Amino acid sequence: MAGKGVFKEILDGDVFKYYVDGEWRRSCSGQFINVQNPSTRKPMFRVQACTQDEVNRCIDSAKAAQKIWARTPLWKRAEALHRCAAIMKEQKAPIADCLVKEVAKALKDAVVEVVRSGDLLSYTAEEGIRILSEGKFLVSDPFPGNERNKYCLSSKIPLGVILAIPPFNYPVNLAVSKMGPALIAGNAVVLKPPTQGAVSCLHMVHTFHLAGFPKGLISAVTGKGADIGDFLTMHPGINCISFTGGCETGIAISKKAGMIPLQMELGGKDSCIILEDADLELAATNIIKGGFSYSGQRCTAVKVVLAMECIADQLVCKVNAKLAKLTIGMPEDDCDITPVISETSANFIEGLVHDARHKGARLHQEWRREGNLIWPILIDHVRPDMRIAWEEPFGPILPVIRIKTVEEGIHHCNANNFALQGCIFTRSFDKAIMISDAMESGTIQINSAPGRGPDHFPFQGLRDSGVGSQGITNSINMMCKIKSTVMNFPAATYTMG
Ligand code: G3H
Repeated sequence: MAGKGVFKEILDGDVFKYYVDGEWRRSCSGQFINVQNPSTRKPMFRVQACTQDEVNRCIDSAKAAQKIWARTPLWKRAEALHRCAAIMKEQKAPIADCLVKEVAKALKDAVVEVVRSGDLLSYTAEEGIRILSEGKFLVSDPFPGNERNKYCLSSKIPLGVILAIPPFNYPVNLAVSKMGPALIAGNAVVLKPPTQGAVSCLHMVHTFHLAGFPKGLISAVTGKGADIGDFLTMHPGINCISFTGGCETGIAISKKAGMIPLQMELGGKDSCIILEDADLELAATNIIKGGFSYSGQRCTAVKVVLAMECIADQLVCKVNAKLAKLTIGMPEDDCDITPVISETSANFIEGLVHDARHKGARLHQEWRREGNLIWPILIDHVRPDMRIAWEEPFGPILPVIRIKTVEEGIHHCNANNFALQGCIFTRSFDKAIMISDAMESGTIQINSAPGRGPDHFPFQGLRDSGVGSQGITNSINMMCKIKSTVMNFPAATYTMG
């Protein structure tokens, strides 16, 4: 069941262990969770169903290790991250193999995810050295009544224990994008992997183990949400939560978490506005890349095309021609469109398509589904009364709304609860800037599909798309607090002149 190429140290029979105190352990619950292969819809791996006591142990160990890690010189923390980056890239094959099997990511994209994570760690090490080694020096006399006899030194100190919860679609990369900044800033990390993606996450954690991070500083705890989900997010030992995943879960966590910093990325309905003067070939290429890569299961996927009526037929024709070239099949064969994550997800997507067809939308391709594999569809002439105009399918279906004015497009973009990214295609940068200014989303791309990377760019959602800003620099800053020391001197006794 475990498959070839796995790290044997993290296996117990055919069950993957959890990680605490620098060791791989079996849970005393004696219970396991099945990880399905989305392609075969059969159990692929098994992971431990950890108990609340085991979570307590992870957090206690993290607290103790963090105190020492916070005093470990920055250059040593950076060195450890560089070592881990190198090991992760060396071990890209077994980790990518797990991604193929448990989240049905095409092999080439799975390898990219692991390599990108290694690169992210290297940049984080460098960036951390720069921004964490700088503090601020302030003097007291800008305010009336103050002499220049108080000096304030402020610097960045770690928060403590960071709870990292990545999603199934980037279980490695979105875990590393939380762990790297947390660790360089002197924090400890408790990682709660998603069930689909858990084994890839555990392999990735083993690269941190091999890099020699101190015992207890990092732990990875797998388990049933009902048993340990709320227990983790409401635990008094957690000092910050960085979560990427579904909107409902994110909002629920926000309501339950205590007075701690939160970083949340919760999905999107990224609008793609195509003006009459756009390079339609470029727009069509980006609609395909943005809408259908990883079968549309990206929070930054293009999720609604808003095309000016006068060019819509031409654009749709180009998109259809490119869509016809996408390969559909299994992730092992590196197909462009692979099975979506679960049957529940496939059923949800099917519901959206049926709703749109029933209400009069035009499907340019026939509906076809085999298990969790869904053939890509461009859904044209979508109107606001259709669910697909507003909801996030997380699948290979893409609605096109034809607009008469650009204001109509901007209005549609701003009326959605999601506001992660958006994009505009036009040859006029003047127009693009003005439209970008009017679109209320976290990031607007001009003449390109939405995307999170490069990983040092700020990345944030407005409204229900999230809280806080990510990107390496912002994450490091977010995972620190400011500490000041104020030095008080006797008032000067001399006078000028
Ligand atoms: O799914 C959410 C990810 O943050 C999207 O990342 O734009 O690199 O695919 P990406």
